[in-house]
Order: sequence, then C-alpha cells, then structure tokens
Amino acid sequence: MKILNINSSSNNTASTSTSFAEKVVAKLVSENKGSSVISRRTTYSDLPFIDETMLGAYFAQERTEEQKEALKLSDELTNEVLNADVLVIGAPIYNFSVPASLKAYFDLIARAGLTFKYTEKGPVGLLENKKAYIVMASGGTEIGSETDFAGNYIKLFLGFLGVTDVEFVKLDQLMFGSEPVIEKANQKIATIS
Ligand SMILES: Cc1cc2nc3c(=O)[nH]c(=O)nc-3n(C[C@H](O)[C@H](O)[C@H](O)COP(=O)(O)O)c2cc1C
Repeated sequence: MKILNINSSSNNTASTSTSFAEKVVAKLVSENKGSSVISRRTTYSDLPFIDETMLGAYFAQERTEEQKEALKLSDELTNEVLNADVLVIGAPIYNFSVPASLKAYFDLIARAGLTFKYTEKGPVGLLENKKAYIVMASGGTEIGSETDFAGNYIKLFLGFLGVTDVEFVKLDQLMFGSEPVIEKANQKIATIS
C-alpha cells in the first residue's frame, strides 16, 4: 500500500491533527505489510501561490522551458497523489477554514488533464480507487456542521478529483473537553485496516 500523508498544522511539535494522522499512518502500515509512506508538511514546504507564469503553464497547449520549470513542484506533488493508494490528510481548522498552506497544496495538485478533466457534462475526477482519511482538529467548530468550511471543503475538493471514499477521524471541539473526543478518535483508528 502506498500511503501519502499530508500534514498542515503550523504546530511543529505538538499538533493534534499531525499526531493523529501519524497514528492513522502507523495503523495502515501495521495492517499492510510492505507499505511505503511519503510525508509532506505543507506549512514547512515553501509552497508557492499560483502566479501568472503558473497559470499560463497550467493552460498552455505546448509549454515553454520556463513554464515547465514553473510546474516542476506541482508535477512532483501531483505524481505523488496519482501514485498513492491512500491519502491521510491532517488538518486543523484555522480561522473558519483550512490552513492557507493546505489550500496552496490543493491548488498545486488540481491539474486539468492529470487529476481531473473537463467533459461536456462538467469536470470529472481522475483519481480512481483511492481512499482518504481526513484527520481534523478544531477548537470550537463541529466537524461536518454547517459552519465547518474546512472538513466539508476538503471532502468536496477530494470528490472533485475523484476521491469519494473518504473517512473522517474527528478531533473537534477540543476546547469543550478533549478526553471523549480523543477516545472516540482512537477507537476509530483501531478499526482502520
Ligand atoms: C490561528 C488559529 C486559528 C484557529 N481558528 C479556529 C477556528 O476558526 N475554528 C475552530 O474551531 N478552531 C480554531 N482554532 C483552533 C484549532 O483548530 C485547534 O486548536 C486545533 O486543535 C489545532 O490543531 P493542531 O494541534 O493540529 O494544530 C484555531 C487555532 C489557531 C492557532
């Protein structure tokens, strides 16, 4: 099993979403002998925002050397996603949404012709037969609720790319008491194979 772990917390030492995402990865590895893991920390990867050169490169029919260069990182990240069997995304809620670095990462892997395509009936995702675990932490927001613009957004985005087999490991509303939430998350992780 090829596992791609994307963590997006700015907390580099004691992040709840990162540590539980790593627990999910460890469980998957223990259940699937011979697994490989690629890990990315979006906040510490100097990910670029899409600029005009990249925009031009995304939509060019034939790319110049400069455009190819501009897409190098996007190509690399996109290939990692295409090659993965399972995505494990660790994300806290920041200011009602996902961390900006995770959005920047998503902007780099949403590639027409590679991860989705346009058809007469609208866009179709090209990531097939993949599963995703979204490991989300929040202070007050209930994950999956109307005001959850992070979890609902990640699920929508993954669905756009074709990943519809999505499960949440919820570490939400931690400010109201973490123990029961953590216990539930651990129980959930124990069921993962
Ligand atoms: C900059 C910042 C913004 C935050 N904004 C929200 C928010 O809008 N809604 C919420 O429920 N929690 C918010 N929180 C709380 C975090 O989501 C919560 O502490 C979470 O457990 C952090 O996860 P981590 O340990 O993986 O970084 C915010 C925390 C920080 C540091």
